[in-house]
Amino acid sequence: MRTFIIYSRGRTDSRFNIEDLPSSGGRMDLVARCINSALWLSHGIRRNTRLYIVLNGAPSPPVTLCFDGSKIKRISPDERSIAIWIKKVLASDFGKEWKEFRNGILVSRKSFQDIVKEHDKKNIYVLHEKGKKMKLKKDPVFVLGDNFDIPKKEEKFVLKYGKKLSIGEKSYLSSSCISVLNWLCDK
Ligand SMILES: C[S@@+](CC[C@H](N)C(=O)[O-])C[C@H]1O[C@@H](n2cnc3c(N)ncnc32)[C@H](O)[C@@H]1O
Repeated sequence: MRTFIIYSRGRTDSRFNIEDLPSSGGRMDLVARCINSALWLSHGIRRNTRLYIVLNGAPSPPVTLCFDGSKIKRISPDERSIAIWIKKVLASDFGKEWKEFRNGILVSRKSFQDIVKEHDKKNIYVLHEKGKKMKLKKDPVFVLGDNFDIPKKEEKFVLKYGKKLSIGEKSYLSSSCISVLNWLCDK
């Protein structure tokens, strides 16, 4: 099992423009790209992978989306199609507990710290340029920022349970980091 948790500043309602994702507040284009990098292979879905996107943007944070590769069906991998699903999920009714919106797409009002606590017995790696290079253990949980780093307070919290991992000195896009991590785990 492979897990990714993204701390995103993405919007927490459905009022973003599918035709202009980068300008839609909280970089929904980036969110859609991370989902694509985490779950899609050429002609297939990574059934052993789950991705959590914790949205912390306006108007009512937090909202967490979970994309479970073992159950996802009939979703196209392009950014636009993924964003349309996000829009539909955010327009639905949901509360603090997980609600399965459709096969493999879940939503709740859980926070970043709630999601970390749900994984605190696992091997957690907090991705940061200034982390250490290390060998990955079984069933890794990778935690990443969006176009900015995870806020210091949240980073301090997650580092109680995990280690800071670097994949190099250069600052890469979150979606590129996810592709590299998937490749490392595949090897
Ligand atoms: C675009 S980077 C953030 C860039 C920059 N640190 C900032 O705050 O402006 C997004 C995320 O990708 C991950 N990341 C980027 N480059 C990395 C690297 N070389 N090693 C480990 N993680 C990296 C980190 O989790 C980071 O928060």
